[in-house]
Amino acid sequence: MQRILITGSNRGIGLELVRRYLRREDTLIFATCRNPQAAAPLQALAAQHPHRLLILRLEVTDAGQIVEAVTAVRIKVDGLDLLINNAGTYAGRVGDADPQVTQFGALEVGPMLDMLRVNTVAPLMMAQAFADLLRRGHNPRLVNVSSDAGSLTMWDGGAYTYPASKTALNMFTRCLAHDLRADGITVISLHPGFIQTDMGGPRATLTLDEAIPGVIRVIDNLAPGDSGQFLNWDGSRVPW
Ligand SMILES: NC(=O)c1ccc[n+]([C@@H]2O[C@H](COP(=O)([O-])OP(=O)(O)OC[C@H]3O[C@@H](n4cnc5c(N)ncnc54)[C@H](OP(=O)(O)O)[C@@H]3O)[C@@H](O)[C@H]2O)c1
Repeated sequence: MQRILITGSNRGIGLELVRRYLRREDTLIFATCRNPQAAAPLQALAAQHPHRLLILRLEVTDAGQIVEAVTAVRIKVDGLDLLINNAGTYAGRVGDADPQVTQFGALEVGPMLDMLRVNTVAPLMMAQAFADLLRRGHNPRLVNVSSDAGSLTMWDGGAYTYPASKTALNMFTRCLAHDLRADGITVISLHPGFIQTDMGGPRATLTLDEAIPGVIRVIDNLAPGDSGQFLNWDGSRVPW
């Protein structure tokens, strides 16, 4: 049984990952979201797979809720094989986001820090909180869903806070890969593709159906030697 936890799983990439991992009979999925009551598609999946899908409430910036999530997972399993830090925010959609985080001249400290809390600090706190369960997992993997917008090589300006939040997340991936290598935990940053979700918007180049099988293939094929890498949804490396 592969034991998987996915954050931000009520819509977009997270929900599609849940759907596709559920198609495998040997998976037990902890799907977290901020508001389980309002997560209708996730609830429908849980009704179909009551023994393999557990929905947990988790606002990823809330330290108390992270502790509650760890406790809830520990009641069910003694180890975790895959943690996908997927929850993230663009404060709007690509090309139409809050100027307070995207536009030089309109930037505001509060909204910028809010974004960094979600996209950068929360995945690290999740890693810290779930490290013991991952240590007890089989071929344990920690995937930080990053973005090629966080690539210093590829990004040529604009948007400010979101790309910076992913660049910093990538550094946390490197730090975590270093610290967790001795425990056998493979840690990567993953660019899932530019996908048509609420965040990516209709002009994104890929559908969920096109990109997510690739994302899952990359995760399936991870080996300890990949730890600390920044990988693309098609398996290629993203330049830092
Ligand atoms: N779509 C793309 O083209 C693209 C490209 C590169 C990287 N990514 C990354 O992929 C990940 C998923 O993106 P997406 O396209 O699926 O975005 P999305 O459709 O906007 O979904 C974002 C998910 O994150 C959750 N979330 C946001 N803030 C949260 C918080 N504070 N606590 C818990 N959950 C929170 C949302 O929950 P609520 O419903 O409660 O808001 C939602 O489930 C993000 O990390 C994003 O940066 C996306």
